[in-house]
Amino acid sequence: MATYEPRDQFYRKARELGLPSRAAFKIEELIARGDLVRKGGRIVDLGCAPGGWLAILARAVGPGGLVVGVDLTEVKNAPRGVTTIAGDILDPAVRERVVAALAGKANLVTSDVAPKLSGIAVRDEARSHELVATALDFAIRALAPGGAMIAKIFMSGEFNAMVGKFKEHFAKLEVKRTKASRPGSAELYVIARDFIR
Ligand SMILES: C[S@@+](CC[C@H](N)C(=O)[O-])C[C@H]1O[C@@H](n2cnc3c(N)ncnc32)[C@H](O)[C@@H]1O
Repeated sequence: MATYEPRDQFYRKARELGLPSRAAFKIEELIARGDLVRKGGRIVDLGCAPGGWLAILARAVGPGGLVVGVDLTEVKNAPRGVTTIAGDILDPAVRERVVAALAGKANLVTSDVAPKLSGIAVRDEARSHELVATALDFAIRALAPGGAMIAKIFMSGEFNAMVGKFKEHFAKLEVKRTKASRPGSAELYVIARDFIR
């Protein structure tokens, strides 16, 4: 069985660098290759608290870019220039607020959303599936043609069906595991490029 070491190298490095979470290293790894983020880019980050991804994304787009984050939990000390919204992405009114803050189309939608686990596998999988499906629907609405999405998906019985849904909307798809994910974690990341419709 995998061991869980809460104070591993990524945890310590995040503390040293003053980053709000070890999750920052996951997005660094995911955007390291290719042209997913550029200066002046426009990004929406779903499930953004406590703000590790926001810190990396804000730095990557620079002062001429735009980053809007949303989470159930309020983000304390969001990076300068980042707009954060406290709310539930399953609520259409909250998604409208995100669209309004974006005021235009996005080049990239990221989603690290994960449900609070109940310990009841069937319920947790269904909730997780609903969140990924909602994130994808949001991306379809918010992305400019040719845009990209990075989304966390947990390995489950629904995994292949969900990857199939991404393929309907993006011309290129990769599925990756990150080094900064906790050992034994079932989380994977879809990197979807060339948004079609
Ligand atoms: C793994 S954490 C995200 C970490 C973040 N990427 C970072 O770098 O700090 C997952 C987040 O999803 C959020 N979340 C779960 N369900 C949500 C929902 N329905 N709407 C908005 N956020 C949600 C949780 O509150 C939690 O902060």
